[in-house]
Amino acid sequence: MAAVLQRVLMLVLCLELAVGSLRFEDRFQPNWAPDHVMYDGDLIELRLDNSSGCGFASKSKYLFGSVSVQIKLVEGDSAGTVTAFYMSSVGEGHDELDFEFLGNVSGEPYIVQTNIYVNGTGNREQRHYLWFDPTKDFHSYSILWNRHQILFMADNVPIRAFRKQQDTMLQLPFPDSKPMWVYGSVWNADDWATQGGRVKTNWSDAPFVSQFRGFEIDACEVGGMPADQRSDDGATERGRCADAETGFWWDTPAKATLSPHQVRQLKWVSRRYKIYDYCRDAARFVVKPVEC
Ligand SMILES: *[C@@H]1O[C@H](CO)[C@@H](O)[C@H](O)[C@H]1NC(C)=O
Ligand SMILES: *[C@@H]1O[C@H](CO)[C@@H](O)[C@H](O)[C@H]1NC(C)=O
Ligand SMILES: *[C@@H]1O[C@H](CO)[C@@H](O)[C@H](O)[C@H]1NC(C)=O
Ligand SMILES: *[C@@H]1O[C@H](CO)[C@@H](O)[C@H](O)[C@H]1NC(C)=O
Repeated sequence: MAAVLQRVLMLVLCLELAVGSLRFEDRFQPNWAPDHVMYDGDLIELRLDNSSGCGFASKSKYLFGSVSVQIKLVEGDSAGTVTAFYMSSVGEGHDELDFEFLGNVSGEPYIVQTNIYVNGTGNREQRHYLWFDPTKDFHSYSILWNRHQILFMADNVPIRAFRKQQDTMLQLPFPDSKPMWVYGSVWNADDWATQGGRVKTNWSDAPFVSQFRGFEIDACEVGGMPADQRSDDGATERGRCADAETGFWWDTPAKATLSPHQVRQLKWVSRRYKIYDYCRDAARFVVKPVEC
């Protein structure tokens, strides 16, 4: 009996170890002001004070897949600060997928700004309020990225869908060839972030701390192969991620579009929480962007 119990206990322990998250340093490294980046296990704390913001980056880059993280944003007075979770291919003509959380004075709502850069050009902002207080608890934020669409989600509810439109007459922008790294950062953006830049960062409330944990990266890694097994500049590896028949779950037909449930969720979010959409900003774009 005791032996059986012991075996059950061992099994439970092993399972716990197996599902336990990876440590920060297994997949990431600080890439800006390392002395402001604290980490322990899978918990990461990013600090902004009057000397610096800070950030971290993944060690690998990815082409398509899903990246998810839980974030607890700066509590109390966060005016002037921006916390970001994003993916970027970096360099000339870069592609980028952004979540930017714009802080506010105590008690006033954060704004989540999403943006998409294609070949170096962004200007595709949307802004939303959230249906929860993102400073009280950890909430999950995720990006699903495949050849058909990019979904930005909060607690698994889509807040934005950027679809690759099938129009062969137009060159519609969509990031689908450049592998991206995953990043997190906190910085001072009081020239624009809070109430249009009117409210400045109050440095007596520093340090401003955002916490990240529970990263789940289920994506096609590029550059994961040892250099001596790489046949070229990475084209083969990119092909492995971008082929029509990769067999990855994010490439299945079900993930090529929103499910009917997600369509309803997105409508609910748009109706109740969307406060800005570049596609409807006629003052800014005399000619409507092609994808709108
Ligand atoms: C930054 O903050 C520290 C601690 O609050 C303070 O001692 C220092 O004077 C500040 N420096 C500047 C340039 O404001
Ligand atoms: C991407 O941008 C570069 C300039 O950075 C330009 O030369 C190139 O033609 C662009 N490619 C596409 C597909 O638009
Ligand atoms: C901050 O609060 C004000 C007042 O409620 C609101 O207008 C604004 O959208 C909020 N968010 C930011 C980032 O300015
Ligand atoms: C800045 O924060 C300090 C401490 O919380 C507070 O006493 C002060 O009134 C704030 N300043 C402004 C301009 O809000």
